[in-house]
Amino acid sequence: MTFTPSRRETLLGAASLLAAAGCSQSAPAPSPSLASLAAEKGLKFGTAMNSRQLSDPRYIDLVLKECAVIVAENEHKMYTIQPSPDAMDFSRGDALAAFARENGLGMRGHTVVWHHPRWLPDWINNSVFGSAAEAEAELTRYINAVASRDQDVIYSWDVINEAVDDQTGELRETSYSRAMGGGAEVIDFCFRQTKEAAPNATLAYNDYMSWEPGTQNHRRGVLRLLEELKKRGTPIDALGIQSHSNYGMPDEFTAERKREWKAFVDEVVGMGLDIYLTEFDVNDTRLDPDPALRDRLIATYTEEYLGMMLDYPQTKDILLWGMVDKDSWLQTFLPRDDGVEKRPVPWDSDYQPKPMREAIARALKAAPAR
Ligand code: G3I
Repeated sequence: MTFTPSRRETLLGAASLLAAAGCSQSAPAPSPSLASLAAEKGLKFGTAMNSRQLSDPRYIDLVLKECAVIVAENEHKMYTIQPSPDAMDFSRGDALAAFARENGLGMRGHTVVWHHPRWLPDWINNSVFGSAAEAEAELTRYINAVASRDQDVIYSWDVINEAVDDQTGELRETSYSRAMGGGAEVIDFCFRQTKEAAPNATLAYNDYMSWEPGTQNHRRGVLRLLEELKKRGTPIDALGIQSHSNYGMPDEFTAERKREWKAFVDEVVGMGLDIYLTEFDVNDTRLDPDPALRDRLIATYTEEYLGMMLDYPQTKDILLWGMVDKDSWLQTFLPRDDGVEKRPVPWDSDYQPKPMREAIARALKAAPAR
């Protein structure tokens, strides 16, 4: 599916031209949006958004000013759509898709199957499928229902999320994999079925392997999986690199870790895959609490990390995992020991931009066109 600039982006572009031509006397010309800076380089910029934020005018304002695409934070997950076997509820995912449609935004689908027992609904974890065919029939029913919806806005799906165990690098076991003979069988099947249901969407495997210390097995496991999928001829277009820094601090992205990380990304693009940065944010758990210091280290890291990743012409999308600090998953999932609010995303809890926003802008301006 080709992605054209939204009506709003065109309007913003026209406004900047008028301002540049001196037609705006009073206010200074607004700095270009991150979406327009990204679009100049052939990239799509966006954010995660949840259905609660649909009634937050200040969040909406930021999304419409800065983003060309959104992704549902939780609304396309199986535990939201079908928490029990009796009925499927698409209302929350559809509401976000309608918001994208009304505002000329694209949307990424996250995720068809989160292949991890912790995030699969209990009724799936407790299912004992009598045969591979039975598990495949269940997956087919679910995938057809989910991936065929809202195809006018959903241009890409994370078909599978986090299937690789981050400690061992092995594929996780689920009720599907027990019935179908292994995780690779499940993953290959889900890609093929999603391709049938949403033939125009690009399809990604999405995971949180990273440059952080102790993540070698995770990276190796992901490479093994991607090689296996390429060997099988699975219709996979991209690796979704979530780009959370879960445990590594922004000042720990050392030359050696950069080298190791680059070697990993080189292997991925060497397989002919594109890269999507799907969930970018920066964890500051162990940094000094001083907000100015944290903002500076986070901005430096942001520019370095994105600089490295955007140098790959294969990197096509960059999405934040939320825009304002107070709504970030990190505040509750990995809180700081001192209870101080984290500053992981580019806008603070009063919706004001922090140095991280300019760091993203600089990285986009420095990126080669693709
Ligand atoms: O929906 C209930 C709500 O009814 C209840 O009032 C509330 C009370 O805690 O819980 C709500 O559910 C929470 C849900 O987010 C919506 O806020 C779940 O407990 C909570 O576990 C869930 O967390 C999400 C997490 O994925 C697990 O699905 C985070 O918001 C979301 O940011 C996070 O996103 C993941 C990506 O999908 C995959 N990569 C990692 C990333 C960060 O963990």
